[in-house]
Amino acid sequence: MERSERIQSPDGRRVKKTDILRDFQVSFFAMSRLASFPWTFLEKDLDNNKSSDLISDILNQTCLHSLCRKFPPSVRFRRLFLSELIRREAAGCDPLDELYDALAEVVGAADTAECYKSYLLPGGEAVSLSESVALISEGTTGLVTWEAALYLAEWALDHRQTFAGRTVLELGSGVGLTGITICRSCSPNRFVFSDCHSSVLRRLRANVQLNGLTEETSPTVSVEELDWTAATEEQLQRIGADVVIAADVVYDPDVVGGLVKLLSRILRGSSPEVLPEVLVCSTIRNQETYDGFKQQLEKEGISHEVMDGPVRRVFPYSRLSSVQLIRLHS
Ligand SMILES: C[S@@+](CC[C@H](N)C(=O)[O-])C[C@H]1O[C@@H](n2cnc3c(N)ncnc32)[C@H](O)[C@@H]1O
Repeated sequence: MERSERIQSPDGRRVKKTDILRDFQVSFFAMSRLASFPWTFLEKDLDNNKSSDLISDILNQTCLHSLCRKFPPSVRFRRLFLSELIRREAAGCDPLDELYDALAEVVGAADTAECYKSYLLPGGEAVSLSESVALISEGTTGLVTWEAALYLAEWALDHRQTFAGRTVLELGSGVGLTGITICRSCSPNRFVFSDCHSSVLRRLRANVQLNGLTEETSPTVSVEELDWTAATEEQLQRIGADVVIAADVVYDPDVVGGLVKLLSRILRGSSPEVLPEVLVCSTIRNQETYDGFKQQLEKEGISHEVMDGPVRRVFPYSRLSSVQLIRLHS
């Protein structure tokens, strides 16, 4: 059996080269913070071997990968990433032509307000999304993927049975990472993405299509305008969700009231035998806002249990943030 090639870690361990290359690739396509890339492995390898082989491999798994041609991360990000590679290369080995060719491609290119981010699933396929470069744009927070969406998607990958064969409604879907991951990996019967903001809905529809999901595919997928403060009984009954999910929707005390009222209506349902399972995943940025959400749930007679977090790390995001997933009960 062929032994996989290993490189030395900064603390002297032997680690699989493919694992390091995958870490670079996963972080590159999700446009993670550059400081979070495993640069120390590259530096150690350059120290030991004075060879540009690892840089060339990294380049092939990132800027020169076919996924980058199809769904490129932002110009600025690629420029910064290549500059970091060149900095290491300059200190450790002979110049690598491909690296400078790749840089030349992005040096003159204009920065854009939109980019693609790709999130690699455990099987290797990518969920590629058109996102804004800025965290807030066009007056909304919904044009980028937030950590709670990644956390909930990872949790779903650990709990596929929660979604298998069921009709799932997602509230405040944003650009669609959680829902598309569930559609790809958890075999729901039907998935309804929703949001209220027109630009978000436009981008969400484009992303759903980009990832090959339509009303004709399995699962059946639709994107609906659903404002928490304006959803009608008719709309909720027509959707008929068995599972309702929402990621990063508890961030503004002004909108929490409307969300809680909707969750309360969903949990009361029209027939008690078919009450849906409701999961809300939040990044706790402001404890007062989050406590206020929970108090309002209590006032509506809704209790909650805190769920254990995802076991398998799939997506790159900071594990230092305080993210909580709760299941609601009426
Ligand atoms: C912080 S973003 C989270 C997006 C996505 N779930 C994620 O975690 O990446 C909040 C989302 O909630 C949506 N939203 C805010 N108020 C809403 C309302 N009243 N009805 C429906 N969606 C709403 C926004 O448009 C936005 O897409």
